[in-house]
Amino acid sequence: MLTIRAAEPGDAEALAEIGNLPGVRHGTLRMPYDSRSRVERRLAASGSNHFLVGVIDAGDGLKTVVAEGGLIPGQRRRSHVGEVFLIVHDDHVGRGYGAAILQALIDIADNWLGLRRLELDVNVDNLAAIRLYQRHGFEIEGTRRGDALRGGVLIDSHVMGRLRDAPGRTPS
Ligand SMILES: CC(C)(COP(=O)(O)OP(=O)(O)OC[C@H]1O[C@@H](n2cnc3c(N)ncnc32)[C@H](O)[C@@H]1OP(=O)(O)O)[C@@H](O)C(=O)NCCC(=O)NCCS
Repeated sequence: MLTIRAAEPGDAEALAEIGNLPGVRHGTLRMPYDSRSRVERRLAASGSNHFLVGVIDAGDGLKTVVAEGGLIPGQRRRSHVGEVFLIVHDDHVGRGYGAAILQALIDIADNWLGLRRLELDVNVDNLAAIRLYQRHGFEIEGTRRGDALRGGVLIDSHVMGRLRDAPGRTPS
């Protein structure tokens, strides 16, 4: 069973390992050889960002980190916006962990911060992620061509957004 809790500095090593997995790098903008100290710095400087981890029981009472999600609120006139990210360990995809963490992030955004808009970038070929986000109310808003370099090839990415009722929003 997955337990979701706040990420702690002590999770840095596990999160660096997850960030270096080939499937995670393929689906995200993680660089090769991401270091524990870099993750530690990110967690230590979290400020108003919300970093969650998903842990499972690895036996003998030991817990293993298998997923991470983040919600990064905007500032000033974008303080109603939150940027979301999500990663699941390569060996644990397809078990509902991504959906559980995303739901927890959406709960924080909707019910505890009152954010109006959530947004994220996703590689256009990341069909699992796109489907997951669509199931949670995100829509594809546009496509960035040649947005990122992946293994020597430029790839496109979608911008996805999820809007809650926004009184006064000017329709496009
Ligand atoms: C994308 C990712 C977060 C999804 O998390 P997950 O735990 O594997 O997904 P879940 O098991 O919660 O499944 C969520 C949905 O995605 C679907 N899904 C999972 N793997 C899939 C696949 N390979 N192809 C198509 N759909 C897939 C599931 O069917 C499920 O949809 P459903 O609710 O309609 O059944 C995870 O695969 C991952 O971290 N991948 C590498 C990093 C990454 O790409 N992060 C996202 C960057 S935007």
